[in-house]
Amino acid sequence: MKQKKDITILSIETSCDDTGIAIIKAPLKPRGNFNVLSNIISSQIDVHAEYGGVYPMMAKREHQRNLVFVLEKALKQAKLLEREAKKINNDEETLREILSREDNLYKTLSSFFSKYKKPDIDAIAITNGPGLEPCLWVGVNFAKALSYSWNIPVISVNHIKAHIFINMLDDQKLTELKTKDFPALCLIVSGGHTQLFLMKGLGKYQVLGETRDDAAGECFDKTARILGLGYPGGPIISKEAEGAKNKFKIQLPRPMINTKDYDFSFSGLKTAVLYDYLKEKPRVKKDKEYVKEMAAQIQQSVIDVLVKKTANAAQNFKVKTLMVGGGVAANKELRRQIREKINKVMPKVKILIPPPKNCTDNGLMTAIAGYFRARQGKKEKWRDIEVKANLKLQ
Ligand code: KG4
Ligand code: ZN
Repeated sequence: MKQKKDITILSIETSCDDTGIAIIKAPLKPRGNFNVLSNIISSQIDVHAEYGGVYPMMAKREHQRNLVFVLEKALKQAKLLEREAKKINNDEETLREILSREDNLYKTLSSFFSKYKKPDIDAIAITNGPGLEPCLWVGVNFAKALSYSWNIPVISVNHIKAHIFINMLDDQKLTELKTKDFPALCLIVSGGHTQLFLMKGLGKYQVLGETRDDAAGECFDKTARILGLGYPGGPIISKEAEGAKNKFKIQLPRPMINTKDYDFSFSGLKTAVLYDYLKEKPRVKKDKEYVKEMAAQIQQSVIDVLVKKTANAAQNFKVKTLMVGGGVAANKELRRQIREKINKVMPKVKILIPPPKNCTDNGLMTAIAGYFRARQGKKEKWRDIEVKANLKLQ
């Protein structure tokens, strides 16, 4: 049989509250065209907005509801959805066993299999951690069901690595890091994680520090909730901050900014916001400017800490590249200020930050991280895939 030159990967991302499926076609050797065939995201913002945060069991239910719909859309956009009257030859018992905890998903997926042909997909990339355990399980079981039914391997993907690997995508081109680009410093700032780590080469990681309590995105979400601004907090705080007349009228702490380590702590910031808000409540009612000033100060406080620790690490480890990722990396001011600072203290460092739409969770980042694993021959059997809610970098 002729050896295939390309690999087509379908990826699934359900680690938090976004249901993402992407399909890519890429060369098995580093050279050649990298094609994004589709990248569909179904957001659950409306469901969680009412509660000001993500409820894992509710998010799980929504993933179950969305997955087959998102799959059909992704396959259709990739021109890989073909009807076939003949049913895929599944052993229904095994399929039922794989999705024994996702009964609704079993029903919709069974109906999907009765309508459509096996698509031309070579492997399934799936986020198996870190993330919200019930959410990860739906995605993993869905990936297992597809892998079993289409008889193709699975590639498990670390969500943190996926946030970093999408930095190598420049529009439709994959620009891979070369030996001269290492060591690279990675800053992950999302709703669940705040972490600084070194990448000494592809697959060689050293964690430098992480948050001791709340993640940076969590701080935006929780303080937005205190201010009655809605969910997710990051984009709303950023918008409010833009309109502030005096960005420094309120003074908030910069937790751990002067410590020599690379750890973070954001829960004290949330408490400081709460106290000030309660103290100023009579004014807040009359004065819309208060919320804007507070938003500006929250944003600047988080940015100051992130930028200072990142710049310290970049200098101490003499890095060649800085990669930023995670939902908070979509923040306009953070993007501007981190570039400005690194350009000033280390002008030769290559700075990569994905376009804002690729910073928040999506299937494409999972596909890219899966693609690198596939190239190293890392494919697994569906029975061997496990969820690891606290998966560490290794
Ligand atoms: O990476 P992500 O989509 O999900 C996790 O893996 O957690 O990140 C979501 C987080 C939320 O906390 C959200 O408030 C924050 O990213 N976020 C932002 C912005 N857009 C999203 N934070 C600050 N500024 C933004 N523009
Ligand atoms: Zn994420």
